[in-house]
Amino acid sequence: MKRRNFLKASALTLASPLLASGDQKVKRNTQNPIVISTWNHGIPANEVSAEILHAGGSALDAVEAGVRVTEADAQNQSVGLGGRPDRKGIVTLDASIMDSQGNAGSVAFLQNIKHPISVARLVMEKTDHVMLAGQGALEFAKEQGFEEENLLTEQSAVGWEEWKRNNNIKDTWGPNDDHDTITSLAQDKNGNIAAACTTSGLAYKLHGRVGDSPIIGAGMFVDNEIGAAGATGVGELVMRTCGSFLVVELMRQGLSPMEACNEAVERIIKKEGKNTKSQVGYIALRKDGEIGYASIHKGFQYALYKNKKNKLYDVPSKL
Ligand code: GLY
Repeated sequence: MKRRNFLKASALTLASPLLASGDQKVKRNTQNPIVISTWNHGIPANEVSAEILHAGGSALDAVEAGVRVTEADAQNQSVGLGGRPDRKGIVTLDASIMDSQGNAGSVAFLQNIKHPISVARLVMEKTDHVMLAGQGALEFAKEQGFEEENLLTEQSAVGWEEWKRNNNIKDTWGPNDDHDTITSLAQDKNGNIAAACTTSGLAYKLHGRVGDSPIIGAGMFVDNEIGAAGATGVGELVMRTCGSFLVVELMRQGLSPMEACNEAVERIIKKEGKNTKSQVGYIALRKDGEIGYASIHKGFQYALYKNKKNKLYDVPSKL
């Protein structure tokens, strides 16, 4: 496109009432910290985040500290320490984080580091890159002072042995339903929004598989002018639809957080068909503090900290 035409097109886009409506009508929430996180492990994560927010801390500090609680919980078999391994018996972790300035950092296929979310934050803050993967991510983590440790707990090793006995490891990835990433969205006293997402990914996945969680715009996305969104569930479905980015863009176009989450789930169902067994859940937080949520199947829950109350809610299913 010629420069003159490009400028004309950009001006038209900026003037579009559709694109501006989500932003202009919505007043920013301040002085009333909010945290929304996926699943029941969101409750203890939210507690820690809320303490930081009430003390005047940033949304970024809040989401990082919150999801670290889940990463350190050895009983939780889908995030950090104790996560279910891939089909080779190796725990590989994905995580991403995004601040209110639009900065982002992520790590993929990281091994032996309990807190991938903190490595992702350092990728964002200390490098010019957005994503580090595998051995390079591990080397970076160690340079930053993180120590390697064995993340495969007895419980997860036993589950993997049992899965191997009952499945053909050549043609199955294991159960879809054993899957519950933590994604956390927070708004601080200044009204700024941040998001974090961390997981050990799909249980018994192919070695080398990376899900949606470290992909900016899939596992989570923040646009401080609008709000934030995050995902949980089968990452392939989220990646194919740029799920979290989609939710935020739909809010920009004037859909409520609930409508935006519903539409993003509907798009997956349209692609996958109504017989899909795979689960995906979305959460969203708009800058005025309004939230949204939706999931394909029943069972998805979100934890909401708002007005000094921290509660778990069931999400109605679409199918
Ligand atoms: N949503 C996490 C994953 O698919 O790995």
